[in-house]
Amino acid sequence: MTDRIVLAYSGGLDTSVAIGWIAHETGAEVIAVAADVGQGGEDLDVIRQRALDCGAVEAVVADVRDEYADEYCLPAMRANALYMGRYPLVSALSRPLIVKHLVAAAKQYGASTVAHGCTGKGNDQVRFEVGIGALAPDLRCIAPVRDSGMTRDKAIAFAAERGLPIDVNKKSPYSVDQNVWGRAVETGFLEDPWNGPIEDVYSYTQAPGTSDGPDELVLTFTNGVPTAIDGTPVTVLQAIEQLNARAGAQGVGRLDMVEDRLVGIKSREVYEVPGAQVLINAHQEMENLTVERDLARYKRGVEQRWAELVYDGLWFSPLKRALDEFIASSQQHVSGEVRMVLHAGTATVTGRRSDASLYDFNLATYDAEDTFDQSLAKGFVELWGMPSKIAAKRDQRLGS
Ligand code: ARG
Repeated sequence: MTDRIVLAYSGGLDTSVAIGWIAHETGAEVIAVAADVGQGGEDLDVIRQRALDCGAVEAVVADVRDEYADEYCLPAMRANALYMGRYPLVSALSRPLIVKHLVAAAKQYGASTVAHGCTGKGNDQVRFEVGIGALAPDLRCIAPVRDSGMTRDKAIAFAAERGLPIDVNKKSPYSVDQNVWGRAVETGFLEDPWNGPIEDVYSYTQAPGTSDGPDELVLTFTNGVPTAIDGTPVTVLQAIEQLNARAGAQGVGRLDMVEDRLVGIKSREVYEVPGAQVLINAHQEMENLTVERDLARYKRGVEQRWAELVYDGLWFSPLKRALDEFIASSQQHVSGEVRMVLHAGTATVTGRRSDASLYDFNLATYDAEDTFDQSLAKGFVELWGMPSKIAAKRDQRLGS
């Protein structure tokens, strides 16, 4: 039987050429797999047909937007996951979902190998191959762009030679990866980190300060899940989509950063993450009101580790799975409402309330209703500071 290879297919120039390139190099049949993770753009049927026209023996296209929102974006929001304190893992989140569907297609069609179109310099090659290894240790991985010299110029020549139905002029000057959780833009003039991004780089957000006025909204959370916006029930996908639109119109969620890639390179990245930023901000505030102090402090360490694991391609790893259990357990009381004002590039929390609130007015107030016994504080402070006082006296005694 002819060998079969499943290709992670985007519909773009590189992976379209890769279909014929891989078939030519290996003699295998190529099955293209494309996933709609809310990247917008072309219709899935158009993408499917192009894969077939480029020589795929089969093309699988799947609308996985809800799965992506519920099982990838939602855990990231619950983890308040921000790599290097800022980047909400847009590309890093979609890769494991794509991997899952590649592996399923490989099983279904009896393929021995999975192919992807990543270069050897980025994180995505790691996410694909480590993910595939974790779900299907027997599948092989190949990467024609990285491993068999499929450069951009050769790809264009290959497409022209064979009359492939690809518009080579449609190529943007940037390398863009986008899905419902946000948009990543790199390369082109952005490779000089001193060059400021121009408006042309952005598409999920308007320039901050150009809207008609502020937008106020109320987000409802139920056990750490966003369940309503302004009182109207929403799915997680709807929440992200609606917040992308509303926060994007206010210029919220633009990031410009120098990022530490797993392969050791520092790269200049511009992101647009309007919905993700609003959801994480609001969720953090809901936690501030409802999560007990020690749990909240410990969770902050877990969040950072979780974001690093996911960034580093370890979505399907034992540690990540165990941290998921911890995070899920921390969300038991994260229910209530957060009010925010979106304006001029910022999302500001202006109110929060919850039936599970740990905020006790009578303890916090400086007015007459005060029930906090300040006389207890004197002894508490004394004992709390005792170990450092003892150490300071020792240091004095030894002159150190
Ligand atoms: N640097 C980001 C990450 O590693 C974004 C990668 C975007 N991918 C791309 N092919 N443009 O998560």
